[in-house]
Amino acid sequence: MRILVCKDYDEMSKKAAQVILSQITLKPNSVLGLATGSTPIGMYKNLVEMYESGVVDFSDVITFNLDEYHKLPITSTQSYHYFMQENLFNHININPKNVHIPNGMTDNIDEECETYENAIKDAGGIDIQVLGIGRNAHIGFNEPTVSFEKGTHLVDLTPSTIEANARFFESIENVPKKAITMGTGSIFKARKIMMLAYGEGKADAVYNTVHGKITPEIPASILQFHGDIVLILDKEAASKLD
Ligand code: F6R
Repeated sequence: MRILVCKDYDEMSKKAAQVILSQITLKPNSVLGLATGSTPIGMYKNLVEMYESGVVDFSDVITFNLDEYHKLPITSTQSYHYFMQENLFNHININPKNVHIPNGMTDNIDEECETYENAIKDAGGIDIQVLGIGRNAHIGFNEPTVSFEKGTHLVDLTPSTIEANARFFESIENVPKKAITMGTGSIFKARKIMMLAYGEGKADAVYNTVHGKITPEIPASILQFHGDIVLILDKEAASKLD
């Protein structure tokens, strides 16, 4: 596990965007695994700036997002479809056909999950997976539980995640209680992983990711087994590491 500690959120975001830039430069048809949430917003901003200044071309890039809420229309401003359009896709030259986000509105969960897994496989697998991390060390929406889930699946969100995500909704009652997420297995299969975290609130989760016992109670702990992972942190998120 490589760990880069940055002085602040801005530096973390710049470094993360540079990693994606080199990935796309080396392989213009890269398959990117993408995350939503507050953490990668700065990275997306940097990528949009790089695109605007002609440094990066997304025309052959393929993307797969980690997750989407269950039964939240994609037009809802809280949906992850909306988030991705607003923060990245509307501002770059990605081919909409190359964008994949789980369809949370489906009535056939099993079929949707299988189709999603197959689409990742057909694209040749994920070259680099961007991850944030929950305070409870969830990755994607893989919450602490008794066993690691392999593939894309429907998950019940934990009260702590519902509470954390309530800041984006009018009230906590409006937060969906379920989501479709790539499994820890689908995430683990990515050739490279880049996890981003900032702020003191993530320090315990980061500590447990790096030094914790490997258990599905700490979903990110499985990443200790991954051969090519970099953690890009600000000082606060890294504060418990030494
Ligand atoms: C988002 C996702 C989540 C977030 C995590 C951290 O697609 O999969 O695992 O990365 O909840 O969220 P923020 O960045 O808002 O603290």
